[in-house]
Amino acid sequence: MKTIKLHPLFVAVTAALLSAHMSGALADQVVRIGFSAPLTGGSAHAGKDQENGARLAIEEINASGLVIGGNKVTLALDSQDDAGDPRTATQVAQKLADDKVVAVIGHMNSGTSIPASKIYSDAGIVQISPSATNPQYTLQGFKTTYRVVATDAQQGPALATYAAGSLKVKRVAVVDDSTAYGQGLADEFAKKAKALGVTVLSHDATNDKAIDFRAILTKIKGESPDAIMYGGLDATAGPFAKQAGQLGIRAKILAGDGVCTEQLADLAGTASDAIVCSEAGLGLEKMPGGATFVKKYEARFHQPILIYAPFSYDAVYIVVDAMKRANSTSADKIIAAMPQTDHSGVIGQTQFDEHGDLRHGVISLYTYRAGKKTLLDAVKM
Ligand code: ALA
Repeated sequence: MKTIKLHPLFVAVTAALLSAHMSGALADQVVRIGFSAPLTGGSAHAGKDQENGARLAIEEINASGLVIGGNKVTLALDSQDDAGDPRTATQVAQKLADDKVVAVIGHMNSGTSIPASKIYSDAGIVQISPSATNPQYTLQGFKTTYRVVATDAQQGPALATYAAGSLKVKRVAVVDDSTAYGQGLADEFAKKAKALGVTVLSHDATNDKAIDFRAILTKIKGESPDAIMYGGLDATAGPFAKQAGQLGIRAKILAGDGVCTEQLADLAGTASDAIVCSEAGLGLEKMPGGATFVKKYEARFHQPILIYAPFSYDAVYIVVDAMKRANSTSADKIIAAMPQTDHSGVIGQTQFDEHGDLRHGVISLYTYRAGKKTLLDAVKM
């Protein structure tokens, strides 16, 4: 019998490779995904809803095993509270950049997303906001700035068209909370309302911390509007609607996605039935993955979805889809892969235009019936 003599080094290297292969040992890599929204203050409930959505996606992806560029990748959520405050948001954005996150899901508000976007652009990090609707956000020429909702240039006109058409509103009073979102949406609404022949009786400004609206509402009552447009978030719209009801105002209250949450019925009480509001996307009941998502979300968090969770959930999957197509977890390769996104998710099919806006934006209109958020209509924009 012939024997072959192997070099000892050859034997050692082969043994090491074989054992690595048999144990399935790929190099392990932890990749940080940034997240930011208000997690304290009046909008903490809505911010938490977004954080939960992102967390659920990351847990699922880690459980199913992610391999990118031959490495086993574990995603870690780096979640930061911006308190819904523009200045805090820029500090948080810098912290996320210093933490070397490869992409950011956030922020929730237009007023925080816009100033933070400059920092992510400078740092070369993709930002996907699950909810910022001010058109300006994506119009700054940054190649890192994306959103998975329609804009207020669509939402304002959709609300005005519904008010003038279905609700037969002829006279409207406008109030906003002086934020990038509230003011921007109120202006887009007013522009379209006027174009449709609706009389805009007045336009008052309050702020996003206000709780007492009786002076403004008493003045508005004297103007006898058919409807009041409120540009702001549910935390202030709740008391606004409640106080309007207490003052005997019977006008409908129109509002955008910031108000259109499951929480509103708790915040406004029975006055929520006066509200007609819009969402800047498909309603949960119309989303292709809506029913399955509700089950998964409620099993994990033991609470209902408030509004944005499916959007932050899809945003994480969109980042991971870009990583897979780039076969890399590096921030610059993710940036390069984002424009080709064609992602089928819970919220529907996501493709982006040259600004980072959705190609196929949808606006859904809701009201509340006996405190239950109820779909009225969905408009493709
Ligand atoms: N759509 C809201 C905003 O842009 C949440 O602030």
